[in-house]
Amino acid sequence: MAYQDLEVTIADYIATITMNRPKAMNALNSNVLTELDTAINKLGADDQVRVIIITGGGKAFVAGADIKEMNELNLIDFRSFIARGQKAMYAIDLCEKPVIAAVNGFALGGGCELALACDFRLASEKAKFGFPEVNLGLFPGFGGTQRAPRFIGRGMASELTFTGAMIDAAEALRIGLVNHVYPADDLMEEAMKIAKTIASKAPIAVARSKTAIKMAGDTTLEAGLAFEREAMALVFPTKDRAEGMDAFINKRKAEFKGE
Ligand code: CAA
Repeated sequence: MAYQDLEVTIADYIATITMNRPKAMNALNSNVLTELDTAINKLGADDQVRVIIITGGGKAFVAGADIKEMNELNLIDFRSFIARGQKAMYAIDLCEKPVIAAVNGFALGGGCELALACDFRLASEKAKFGFPEVNLGLFPGFGGTQRAPRFIGRGMASELTFTGAMIDAAEALRIGLVNHVYPADDLMEEAMKIAKTIASKAPIAVARSKTAIKMAGDTTLEAGLAFEREAMALVFPTKDRAEGMDAFINKRKAEFKGE
């Protein structure tokens, strides 16, 4: 499928979504949000995809929700716009395949929220993060007030949200917002390496582990453990589980088929 504001490629079980409105710093307008939601859902259902990487074309990852579009909206349309943004971000949570943010540049406002909606984040040394919404009389509305405290703690999420401060990649690494920082030219290669490793593992086990890990942020330990037990019970009868154990016992490399 052709998209207007995204580029989507698939190779070796890895899909790459490149946010592609470089002249607007990849700002999230209604069309991008709809396309992102569609792309995530399609890739999530595609057997040829085991991992998804999201990155930005040009200088920015995503510089936030589209301020020019928002400024023209009435209240009803603004509510719909925010709901559309939340839905696109939540599609990443619901997607059973790992989604990695490869943050190449500015990840501000809705862009930082997009990165936070991914399973984990890798950054270029040029990446910059922040929630500048308070400068506009807004605050993070694409899930930032809910995901940031879960991932970087309430204190750090509050400071970033209340001050609108922009932080660099080294600080993002220090506070646990990103897992790794790479020289700009190496970012995609390093993201691909991690994606390839994930793609070589048993896909159903990876998918179930994603849903179980998500539960950790959403529920009690007791309910999470119950979910984990059931998820494990679903994985046990798969062909890939038999293949993985047989390969270990017979000292050979496992070949996983996602079955
Ligand atoms: N929305 C719409 N357009 C944007 C944009 C955004 N979020 N961010 C950048 N642009 C546009 C600029 O208006 C400019 O367009 P023109 O060439 O037509 O003037 C173009 O992208 C290039 O931007 P700059 O000239 O500003 O580039 P820069 O290198 O000087 O600065 C920047 C880059 C620091 C990212 C700066 O553009 C900026 O501060 N952008 C806004 C960041 C922001 O406030 N994000 C939060 C948005 S609100 C939000 O996200 C709400 C929510 O939670 C749902």
